[in-house]
Amino acid sequence: MSKAPVNVTVTGAAGQIGYALLFRIASGQLLGADTPVKLRLLEIPQAVKAAEGTAMELDDCAFPLLQGIDIFDDANKAFEGANVGLLVGARPRGPGMERGDLLQANGGIFKPQGEAINAGAADDIRVLVVGNPANTNALIAQSHAPDVPAERFTAMTRLDHNRALTQLAKKLDVSINDIKKLTIWGNHSATQYPDLFNAEVNGANAAKAVGDQAWLENDFIPTVAKRGAAIIEARGASSAASAANAAIDHVYDWVNGTPEGDWTSAAIPSDGSYGVPEGLISSFPVTSKDGKWEIVQGLEIDEFSRGRIDASVQELVEERDTVKKLGLV
Ligand code: NAD
Ligand code: LMR
Repeated sequence: MSKAPVNVTVTGAAGQIGYALLFRIASGQLLGADTPVKLRLLEIPQAVKAAEGTAMELDDCAFPLLQGIDIFDDANKAFEGANVGLLVGARPRGPGMERGDLLQANGGIFKPQGEAINAGAADDIRVLVVGNPANTNALIAQSHAPDVPAERFTAMTRLDHNRALTQLAKKLDVSINDIKKLTIWGNHSATQYPDLFNAEVNGANAAKAVGDQAWLENDFIPTVAKRGAAIIEARGASSAASAANAAIDHVYDWVNGTPEGDWTSAAIPSDGSYGVPEGLISSFPVTSKDGKWEIVQGLEIDEFSRGRIDASVQELVEERDTVKKLGLV
């Protein structure tokens, strides 16, 4: 028997991430090769025509799994019946800006979208916020969706995770497949902490395999944490295809589960683990089982890691306080 189609709502559908993302969703890479999808695209009125153009191209791909495309400029309609919400639509930062500088500009987008999700999304709705500052935007949306279980609101740090995998693989001249248990902690910002102390390379401790604290502190961590800015500098536009790829990875693993013996990174509501205040949407080492993220427990956090995690979490606390003052949560 064929599966029922899954309704996937994508905001910012006419943007550059949208263009890299929609074709992969429609081809089955988001949910699996046996899951039909219906796309529900949300744009601001001025960009609806461009979204219609993308929809024409999607039609022209004749994807066997794509069972429909609807385009909206009204969040309530776009999220009606949504099973998956990819909240991409938001302004990207330009050169010299930090992602937190976007709070004022973008925060306002996520309140009505949270309300729309609360009002009309399907009971199993799963939300991934990509639009920056992603963690705090997810917090805003979540706080306006009181009827949706809090853990269904997540933010994307998978791009940071993937960036860290590649930097480490290059340093040690190993394959991505040789690396397991890497973690991004904290905020999707320059304070994030990519942790090699609990990671493994071919079964051995990754930090020990590197054996070079100076590289870790002065090269690896800043390269990963500031990669977004480096991409903006090089491309003249913020990352798009790699961001779309990470969104696909995040949702695929959430729905289909993470592989045995490994974990990944996702920003999910804290349950207080590792001293992260409950409720903050912070990146953790996570596994997914039966459609639910779980924080990996019992990891040893040394003094160096503790300081880095605390600094990033402190930034999340400050962002939360800022949006509280703005009346957004
Ligand atoms: P873009 O400017 O190319 O596209 C954004 C789109 O969102 C535009 O088409 C715009 O019309 C639309 N939009 C704006 N307000 C909207 C609203 N209220 N409802 C629906 N659509 C709306 O930007 P992009 O490069 O696609 O990036 C989108 C966001 O993703 C940015 O905030 C960027 O910083 C962020 N981003 C996050 C990550 C991450 O790892 N979390 C990675 C890359 C980019
Ligand atoms: C990224 O990490 O590439 C995105 O968050 C875009 C940005 O502003 O850095």
